[in-house]
Amino acid sequence: MLTGAIAGPVFTSPPVGSIVAAIQAVARAGAAGVLLIVKNYTGDRLNFGLALERARREGVDVEMVVIADDCAFTSPRKAGRRGICGTVLIHKIAGALAEEGKSLPEILRTVTLAASRMGTLGVSLSPCSVPGSGPTFQLAADELELGLGIHGEAGVRRDKMMSSDEVVKIMIDHMTDPASQSRVDVNSGDSVILVVNNLGGLSCLELQIVADSAVRLLEERGVMIERAVLGSFMTALEMSGVSLTIMKSSQEILKLYDHETAAPAWPRVPCIRVTGQTRCHPCPPESPLPEDPEPDAERVQVYVRVLGHVCRALLSLEEELNDLDRAAGDGDCGSTHARAAHAIEDWLSGGHLPSHPSRLLTALSQVLLEKMGGTSGALYSLFLTAAARPLQDDSSPPAWAAAMDAGIGAMKRYGGAEPGDRTMLDSLCAAGHALQPLRGPNCDVMRILSSAVQSAAAAAEDTRHMTAGAGRASYIGSSSLSRPDPGAVAAAAILKAVWEGLGGK
Ligand SMILES: *[C@@H]1O[C@H](CO)[C@@H](O)[C@H](O)[C@H]1NC(C)=O
Repeated sequence: MLTGAIAGPVFTSPPVGSIVAAIQAVARAGAAGVLLIVKNYTGDRLNFGLALERARREGVDVEMVVIADDCAFTSPRKAGRRGICGTVLIHKIAGALAEEGKSLPEILRTVTLAASRMGTLGVSLSPCSVPGSGPTFQLAADELELGLGIHGEAGVRRDKMMSSDEVVKIMIDHMTDPASQSRVDVNSGDSVILVVNNLGGLSCLELQIVADSAVRLLEERGVMIERAVLGSFMTALEMSGVSLTIMKSSQEILKLYDHETAAPAWPRVPCIRVTGQTRCHPCPPESPLPEDPEPDAERVQVYVRVLGHVCRALLSLEEELNDLDRAAGDGDCGSTHARAAHAIEDWLSGGHLPSHPSRLLTALSQVLLEKMGGTSGALYSLFLTAAARPLQDDSSPPAWAAAMDAGIGAMKRYGGAEPGDRTMLDSLCAAGHALQPLRGPNCDVMRILSSAVQSAAAAAEDTRHMTAGAGRASYIGSSSLSRPDPGAVAAAAILKAVWEGLGGK
């Protein structure tokens, strides 16, 4: 791409002497000509201009192109448009032309045209600081600033924090505003190259979210994204922010853009059109369960009542479970269970509950698998899937005891925990044990259930004395765990809610 880059002090244009030395080095190495690619800042224009004059006097064939791709300022101002990330595309195109052996005037002509057909706009979530000094400007934690320069100069407007989609819409509207003097003229039907550039401190995850927003928005406007690239191309130290560059492309520009380069920082991604690619879609919804052969309205009413109790219990425990989880995990156990409760409530309000218990558990396991997430979502889902099996042809009390055992067995098998490991299995196993009398003749179901609920609560309470043997809590020292395990507390609360939903008091 580039034969040389000349560094000045941080955020300062390099001295003329350094630039002349670089031009001479390239010329001595046999270059047919030298093209200076300069970003439109006064200091750079002056120093590079002076160096160019000096090198020409010494007989070197030198040209200069000044890049001004900044779309920040909508009305003409003295300072003019700055050169920012779009400059990297010019490096790429000029480098490819030089590799193809094009003459200096020809290269100058092509890159000048390409440079006139692109625009860049940055948005920042934080300032940057020159090593040894403080931040270049102040920005509150919930603010973002649009249109700032790569040297930490303040931008053109400030907004409250918003979603990636919203920010990207503001950016692209601003960049393509027909009333703006510095717009990039992109319309429906145009083909473009898109650069999503990290200004320094953004995580890869955030950058990709912004890239996704930008691709979707441009496509919605009928713009054909021929190439898209993301990475750290032109940064402002540690500034957390992103810039978008849009360059209108032609077949010639694409060919140059696709040209191989050995530049280490240029991403080696397949050069394929983005628009029109098959994209990932969210998982297709599970095929609906077949209609109930013999709907039983009374049973369904019981299910609705029991599940309603479970949801309310989990929602009321949200804060407490999060709090317990903060000691050992990431503090989201309550939120995860609340998410499950909301998903079940939505499902209940949809009104399509199967009346067969085995199908009820299967459907419930699907709801949790899709909506609950986390390890607990997978474990509950496993439990319910396995528990559904013994209930397939039999819904007598012994079958429910067998269902509980099957669920616990599956959790142990796949989750790798045993009772005593300080997990929800402690509550479930205690309850499962207490449910064994269901297998006997003429049993008192509610009395047995009540004892299972008490056993589960006691077992959950007992986890406070246990050392974590599985799950996230096992990664931390036992000394910091003096409260019960949130998963065990949640499982005990669910059993209690089931019992209450069935009329237990
Ligand atoms: C560069 O900025 C100056 C003002 O500093 C402006 O007059 C000029 O038009 C800009 N150059 C380009 C190529 O836009």
